[in-house]
Formats: sequence, structure tokens, C-alpha cells
Amino acid sequence: MTNNSQEKRQKILTAFEHRHATKSFDPTKKIPTEDWETILEAARLSPSSFGYEPWSFLLIENSQIKEELKEFAWGAINSLNGASHFIIALARKNVTAESSHVKHMVEDVFGLPFSPDAPQTQMFKQFQVNDFDLNSERSLFDWASKQTYIALANMMTTAALLEIDSCPIEGFNRADVETYLSKKGLLDTNEFGVSYMLGLGYRTKEIPLKKRQSMDEILTVIE
Ligand SMILES: Cc1cc2nc3c(=O)[nH]c(=O)nc-3n(C[C@H](O)[C@H](O)[C@H](O)COP(=O)(O)O)c2cc1C
Repeated sequence: MTNNSQEKRQKILTAFEHRHATKSFDPTKKIPTEDWETILEAARLSPSSFGYEPWSFLLIENSQIKEELKEFAWGAINSLNGASHFIIALARKNVTAESSHVKHMVEDVFGLPFSPDAPQTQMFKQFQVNDFDLNSERSLFDWASKQTYIALANMMTTAALLEIDSCPIEGFNRADVETYLSKKGLLDTNEFGVSYMLGLGYRTKEIPLKKRQSMDEILTVIE
């Protein structure tokens, strides 16, 4: 049991040490289907506030779109050039107690009756309006966007455990990417905004040593 736990701990830390924001991907290497499906499943199973899953993911396989995105996505060029898989994560806009998305989640996903007056709906409303001050389109988008980053972390960690490399990407002009995607008919900007991009594949080079603050610098223990 102790040895088993030790092995598990070591496996986790090795994966985290191995994970690295990959700057150069080998374009000849493709992620096997089973591994890819596992990475996607890690995103799908990610937790979200009230379970409302305010996300959607575009898997960009089209090479013309990849080429065209480079104009607005300077931080994604390495991934667009060589990553096996390239994702654009979308965050849902205006997820409120009155939204059709919440009704859809409650009725179609949770299998429960939806009512604006139900205690769960009212609790969600009071959380958004009072506790978290989610009272503007921007704050609602940012709240949804924060949650999409949980799926990001889970995808990167799952990939690392499978010895697959990744690069999280915010290096793009959000407005330009959204305009581009909506002109292509790939994004309804009334429903979603772009949250981040993610390249996944295999590194071509070994990685520099990780530099991090010490645990003492980032952890305060309150006794
Ligand atoms: C939210 C976020 C956005 C990032 N955006 C980019 C990006 O646009 N392009 C890039 O090459 N790396 C990007 N990175 C990678 C970081 O620069 C990298 O994670 C950081 O320097 C730590 O290095 P490591 O991930 O290799 O340990 C981003 C990382 C995060 C978490």
C-alpha cells in the first residue's frame, strides 16, 4: 500500500515536471485516437459552477483556418505549425437563471423540471447577483471563462500523464479571432466568446529547467 501510494505520488509529480508550455511541436507525430479521446473526456468531466458547463470546444483540423488564425494569434503560431491537435475553447455568455442554457442543463442534462421560482434557481440567482457581483455581460463572460480554465488544466494534466505535450495560449487578439470565426460561421458571438487556445502534440526539443517560486513564497499556513 505504502509503495503503491509512493508510486502514485511520483507518477503525478513526474507528469507535472514533464509538462511544459511546448514551443516547438513535431508536425509528423499524431496523438493516438484513444489518448485524444481520454484528453477530451477529461475536459467534458470537468467541474463547473452549479454544474452548468458554460463551455464549448472547437477542434480545428482545417489547415486553411490554421494558417489564417496566425494573423491574429501570435502566441499560437508554434502550435498551429506543429501540434497534432488544436483547440479553441469558448466560454458561454449570459449564463443566468433566466437563460435558455440553464433551462437546458436542468431539464435535458440533469433530467429535472425547471422553474424560475425553484429554490435551486433562486439560489443561483442570489449567488450571481449578490455574492459574486455577476451583474454585467463582461463579468458573466469572465466568470464562464474562468471555469473553462479548469477544463484546460485537466486536459493538460491528462495529456502530461499520457506523455503528450501541450501549450496553453492567450496570445491572440480576442476581438479579431471572434470576428474571424463568426465570419466563417464557426462562432455565434451572442452565445459565446473565445476563452483560450490549446495546442497538443509532441515536443521536438528537451525542455529548460522549470523555474518557480518556492513553496514558502506562495503558501501561508493559518494555524
Ligand atoms: C493562461 C496562459 C496563457 C499562455 N499563453 C501562451 C501563449 O500565448 N503562447 C505561448 O507560447 N505560451 C503561453 N503560455 C505558457 C506560459 O508562458 C508558461 O506556462 C509559463 O512560462 C511557465 O512555463 P511552463 O508551462 O513551461 O512550466 C501561457 C500559459 C498560460 C497558463
